[in-house]
Amino acid sequence: MINLKKSILQGIPTQLPPKKEFDNSVSHAPKRKDILTTPEKKLAIKNALRYFPENLHSELAQEFADELKEYGRIYMYRYRPDYEIKSRHFQDFPHKSKQAAGIMMMISNNLDYAIAQHPHELITYGGNGAVFQNWAQYLLCMQYLAEMTDEQTLVLYSGHPMGLFPSHKNAPRVVVTNGMMIPNYSKPDDLEKFNALGVTQYGQMTAGSFMYIGPQGIVHGTTITILNASRKIDSTAKDMSGKIFVTSGLGGMSGAQAKAGVIAKGICIVAEINPKATSKRYKQGWVDEVYKDLDKLIDRALIAKEKKEAVSIAYDGNIVNLWERLAERNINIELGSDQTSLHNPLAGGYYPVGISFEDANEMMANNPEQFKEEVQKTLVRHTNAINTLCERGMYFFDYGNAFLLEASRAGADILNKKGEFKYPSYVQDIMGPMCFDYGFGPFRWVCSSNTADDLEITDRIASEILEEIIKNSPNEIQIQMQDNINWITAAGENEMVVGSQSRILYADAEGRMKIAEAFNNAVKSGEISSPVILGRDHHDVSGTDSPYRETSNIYDGSQFTADMAIQNVIGDSFRGATWVSIHNGGGVGWGEVINGGFGMMLDGSKDSERRLKSMLFWDVNNGIGRRSWARNKEANFAIKRAMEMNSNLKVTLPNLSSDDLLDILDL
Ligand SMILES: NC(=O)c1ccc[n+]([C@@H]2O[C@H](COP(=O)([O-])OP(=O)(O)OC[C@H]3O[C@@H](n4cnc5c(N)ncnc54)[C@H](O)[C@@H]3O)[C@@H](O)[C@H]2O)c1
Repeated sequence: MINLKKSILQGIPTQLPPKKEFDNSVSHAPKRKDILTTPEKKLAIKNALRYFPENLHSELAQEFADELKEYGRIYMYRYRPDYEIKSRHFQDFPHKSKQAAGIMMMISNNLDYAIAQHPHELITYGGNGAVFQNWAQYLLCMQYLAEMTDEQTLVLYSGHPMGLFPSHKNAPRVVVTNGMMIPNYSKPDDLEKFNALGVTQYGQMTAGSFMYIGPQGIVHGTTITILNASRKIDSTAKDMSGKIFVTSGLGGMSGAQAKAGVIAKGICIVAEINPKATSKRYKQGWVDEVYKDLDKLIDRALIAKEKKEAVSIAYDGNIVNLWERLAERNINIELGSDQTSLHNPLAGGYYPVGISFEDANEMMANNPEQFKEEVQKTLVRHTNAINTLCERGMYFFDYGNAFLLEASRAGADILNKKGEFKYPSYVQDIMGPMCFDYGFGPFRWVCSSNTADDLEITDRIASEILEEIIKNSPNEIQIQMQDNINWITAAGENEMVVGSQSRILYADAEGRMKIAEAFNNAVKSGEISSPVILGRDHHDVSGTDSPYRETSNIYDGSQFTADMAIQNVIGDSFRGATWVSIHNGGGVGWGEVINGGFGMMLDGSKDSERRLKSMLFWDVNNGIGRRSWARNKEANFAIKRAMEMNSNLKVTLPNLSSDDLLDILDL
């Protein structure tokens, strides 16, 4: 039996551990681009050797050179620990600081072999969302966390533990930065180069900030998005019952659409070209029925509509065939979207119509020019069919996958008379004004006991708190509150937990603070058996500056600035966060976004109560203040409410000017 505590405390072993066989039973990161010059390759190896005593260098140098050649990166596979990396009771980790033990638990969850996408390359999700760059960094970080006290702060530079620095008990225990660059060096190839040199990494959002909680995060977000999309055409709709939502993709994130459609009580039809992806979601229970015959599928959907049945139906085929058949048969569809991977249209993200999946893969590799032509022809047909259904009343939205952009590049009929896209994106039209501007975002928590019993208690407490708050909530946010109550009351039944015992729940500042306070009291009284760790996805009100996603509904020109995300992380760190993180990249790509997050351990103490009140209020209202200054009506309403709740909050409000005045100016 391997002794976990002893292994962690040992850090990087002084003796060379045996070399490891390459394990083909787990998914591995693709070979990365060979981008370094010969002198740069030497520098990368020299950089990697810094973690080891000189007597090991002659053996390790060639091994690292081989890894660089074979995989494009130096992962130091030999140093991957032999113990099982997974979420456990936080007390199972060796520690002097409880907060540090909580962080070890969260890191272990992000690297759990059953959860991480490419665990041996320390990638949690999104293809390149790294927790660390190599195994030496992991070992050193865990050792520091095990040794540190509440008078120290661990400093992590893109996975590299710079060390423990003296601080104080109110400071964060860990400060994480990932991929922060001098702005002129933030092009995609810069990432490839500096990552290969071992000096930076792509942390995505919750990968490099130790806050990943598996697929439930995306299911809740998707549920909220489609529920609110359905209100765009029926403002009084409580849920999606009797409404059909047509979309595509049963892959990583897109697979959540089928499950979310049923949770929202609607009929969700999803086309998926890859039979393996369809079969995975079917076996998992996220898709209820699969059809190859389009007419049978449509007939089945119409019966479900008639009976207001909640059901998810997969079409085993190309999305364009589905849209065209719906148009031919004059079927009215309420909601439409698309989640093929159109951010990557020519390398497998989007499959052309009329060609089998296998033939398309072959054409992609052997005849890329023809493949591109087929993709563009398909996008034109795709858009035409959607336009026909929209003319009959369908509400279509872009799901952040670059559908509109690629359709326009393909010359499809996707622009209106003003030269703008005919359809909105999900943040511009839905998430921004209906959620983020009011402060609603993906709040989450993790039970440090790692027990389902504690999670059940937190679910109950959270739902009781929301039921209380809704009684006095203004009309403007009644719907959001009710959606979140519905989600949390059914969360246990939906069986979404993978890995650590955690829960996501969209909530605004008031909800987050009151729920957190109730958790802290329950830890104090012993009702919850051990501390609760709070956090959130970076895809939130204040955490992320991203002009084409999270801040795409900012229209004063400031969507290209990143002051909000930077202010947020600085503000969180001195108001009581247990750890903070700030990243370049995540979701939309390196150089395209700055995003940050936090973790906070609630241990039942008075001190935790002070921290949660101070930090959560800031963590939400910072973004609302900025959104209000950008003249967003909903945020203006929300920040005025926040000022009424806390007399110490004084936010500069915008004066609105008339467009008529501007139109007559001599410019
Ligand atoms: N869900 C969200 O909240 C969200 C947010 C932002 C962006 N996105 C975007 O959504 C896209 C999908 O993400 P993912 O993780 O699911 O990617 P993925 O690649 O895992 O899944 C996409 C699926 O689409 C299928 N597909 C491709 N072409 C098709 C076609 N013509 N007909 C039918 N099926 C087809 C693929 O086989 C694949 O299974 C990405 O571009 C992502 O950036 C999603």
